[in-house]
Amino acid sequence: MALKEFNDLADFRIADVEALLALATRLQRQPEPQALAGKVLALLFLSPSLRTLSSFQAAMVRLGGGSFVISPEMSIHGLETRSGIVMDGAAAEHMREGVPVIASYGDAVGIRVFANRSSLADDLADKEYNAMRALVKKPLINMESAIQHPCQSLADWKTMDELAIPRRGGKFVLSWAWHPKALPLAVPSATLHMAAMRGMDVTVVRPAGFELPPAVMDKARQAATLSGGSVRETSDRREALEGAHVIYAKEWSSTRHYGDRVADAKLREELQDWRVDDPWFATTRPDCRFMHCLPVRRGVAVTDRVLDGPRSVVIHEAENRMWGQMAVLYQMMGPGA
Ligand code: CP
Repeated sequence: MALKEFNDLADFRIADVEALLALATRLQRQPEPQALAGKVLALLFLSPSLRTLSSFQAAMVRLGGGSFVISPEMSIHGLETRSGIVMDGAAAEHMREGVPVIASYGDAVGIRVFANRSSLADDLADKEYNAMRALVKKPLINMESAIQHPCQSLADWKTMDELAIPRRGGKFVLSWAWHPKALPLAVPSATLHMAAMRGMDVTVVRPAGFELPPAVMDKARQAATLSGGSVRETSDRREALEGAHVIYAKEWSSTRHYGDRVADAKLREELQDWRVDDPWFATTRPDCRFMHCLPVRRGVAVTDRVLDGPRSVVIHEAENRMWGQMAVLYQMMGPGA
């Protein structure tokens, strides 16, 4: 399957994802250090990163290609992303020139631009990412946008396969976790979809006011219908955790007060007990795993004893970012293309 774009797991059939995961495992076991010889990946980071930044560069080196990174912290001329404005401020370059120029140097492009969290409708429509996507005529990878994080989802699916966490009948609990700030919806939305597409019985557990948007839930329900899984949402944490194979924690914004940081902060100030800790696993399956995409604030979203304990697979997930992305790059620029 040649890839022109990697934006949303929902764009693929289950069999396509399985083929990518099989390729990722093959490249992990049987290195192909010349597969992308002479190929260049252009990486535009308009939002911060540790894993995505390093795993894409490592992936390109392992496949024999190269990459370059552009971010606002570098000595570029600033990058204006708003349309129709007079550029008399700090930024001396507009994305309408900057993005195609960056793309012209690569054989494929990766873009990261987080939600600006002022309008839920704009973020659900991935407005800012899509404006840049329209400027790129090369194969394109979404490295996390307002509502997508397909590379994280691919890695998490691979991790669960390797741990023999069941698909059909596997209970996946996506839990809201406490954080002092309102964080984007990309990871919870993408993770929900991934687990539903994998055929799992997914429960989203969150306090009132942090419901995932109906469009996100409906899309995941459609994926579950095709895969044989199920999707539901609750605020009853005790009931949600019973029998879980996986607790996947993520911090996210209030959807009731989206874009209103004061109201969001007020709603979350009493919710500090949504910190994953050992008692959360009292009624899960004994072998229940703890997952998180990272970065995570220790003692805030999760306790040290969970992160350092045998249930935690967060490093395994992070490593699988690289193997999964190698499969994507191979299908975009290598023999698979
Ligand atoms: N999980 C993830 O995307 O990590 P980074 O933000 O560090 O890239």
